[in-house]
Amino acid sequence: MIRSARKLPNLPYFWSLIDWTLPSLNPYKGKLQRAQSVDDMATIARKRTPKVVFDYVEGGAVDEIAYARSREVYSRVEFNSRVLRDVSRLDTSEIILGKKVDLPICFAPTGYTRLMHHVGEPAVANVAAEKNLIYALSTMGTTSPAELASAVPNSRRWFQLYVMKNRNDSLAVIKQARESGFETLVLTVDTPVAGLRYRDNRNGLTIPPRIRINTVFAIARKPIWWLNLFTTGKLEFAAFRGWDKSLSHLAAAIFDPATTFKDISWLRSVWDGPIVIKGIQSVEDAKTVAKLGIQGIILSNHGGRQFDRGPVPLEILPDVVRAVGKKVEIYIDGGIMSGLDALSAIALGAKAVFIGRAYLYGAMANGEAGVEQVIEIMRREFENGMALTGATNIAEVRKNGARIRSW
Ligand SMILES: Cc1cc2nc3c(=O)[nH]c(=O)nc-3n(C[C@H](O)[C@H](O)[C@H](O)COP(=O)(O)O)c2cc1C
Repeated sequence: MIRSARKLPNLPYFWSLIDWTLPSLNPYKGKLQRAQSVDDMATIARKRTPKVVFDYVEGGAVDEIAYARSREVYSRVEFNSRVLRDVSRLDTSEIILGKKVDLPICFAPTGYTRLMHHVGEPAVANVAAEKNLIYALSTMGTTSPAELASAVPNSRRWFQLYVMKNRNDSLAVIKQARESGFETLVLTVDTPVAGLRYRDNRNGLTIPPRIRINTVFAIARKPIWWLNLFTTGKLEFAAFRGWDKSLSHLAAAIFDPATTFKDISWLRSVWDGPIVIKGIQSVEDAKTVAKLGIQGIILSNHGGRQFDRGPVPLEILPDVVRAVGKKVEIYIDGGIMSGLDALSAIALGAKAVFIGRAYLYGAMANGEAGVEQVIEIMRREFENGMALTGATNIAEVRKNGARIRSW
């Protein structure tokens, strides 16, 4: 039997191994510094925001099965890894609608962002601008198109739209987007009616948030979040500031269940910039919209927040790319929570991915710095995955490819 030869302990060596940095007195700072993944950021976010707000972000429709499936599928992706390629220099850039982005990860539109962090949409758009990425502002944003443009004038900004019951209401919003330099319209089509959000209903979520007895307890638990909410601007759907009817009227008017493909042609006639259709969930619909003079499609089930038994976007991605990928750009979202998830979608043919919850967790954990940290976490994972699969640029990621295992 071979044994180690024993010696007296080498104290100077042991001493040199000790990291003498004192732990931060701010419990969140240390946690943020140690956060490795977007999931770690979500854990911090959960501690920093009231439950009702965290649940609004994390939750999906009904039993949240569609969202769980969208997440789970990414764990079954297997890359065609190649070795002995020179991966000392990596280029993660991609051309999206004619212009270069530094990473094929875009910020999906999310309503009510100031509920997650008091700075809200401008904080996210600023990270997008600094990292040369695309930011999509929601129609239900808490910052108006003009405010966003003036807060972050150099951002590459897209505007997300719903076809409203009264087309003139949509036109008024489109006008704001045009006047504020938004380059692309993203039309969301998976919302003929609102999804059933049981988790929010159980939590008694109301928009705007109501002060009820249990809200007082909630304030006691997360005083900083509440202080930030009460000492900054009013929470409102900023694109509808002049709206002269009630918020419930607005909620009822925002989705038109009578919307059809004809409305895309109508939109084409009133907006001369690029149009991206968000919420496509079948090859057939992808083929139909691709013929309507649009430039891009986001395969999406709204992060499982609308229909709870819809298809998993990643599973239909290769077929959609085969069918219309040469005609229009194909993007995807839903359940992308890491750089490897993003890389998986690119390897399966997507032009770019959109993230929603991932950046909102960053915002809830630490505002703008948290959003930036999420992007840097994802970039590190993305680049690491590229190097380990032998791809030096995005075209090679797609060429090497990946598959979805059945188990
Ligand atoms: C809190 C929240 C609010 C959202 N609001 C909108 C919205 O106003 N318009 C829209 O088209 N999609 C909205 N979405 C859906 C996102 O644009 C995107 O499709 C989804 O978040 C992608 O899934 P992921 O969150 O797993 O990344 C929202 C998503 C979240 C989480």
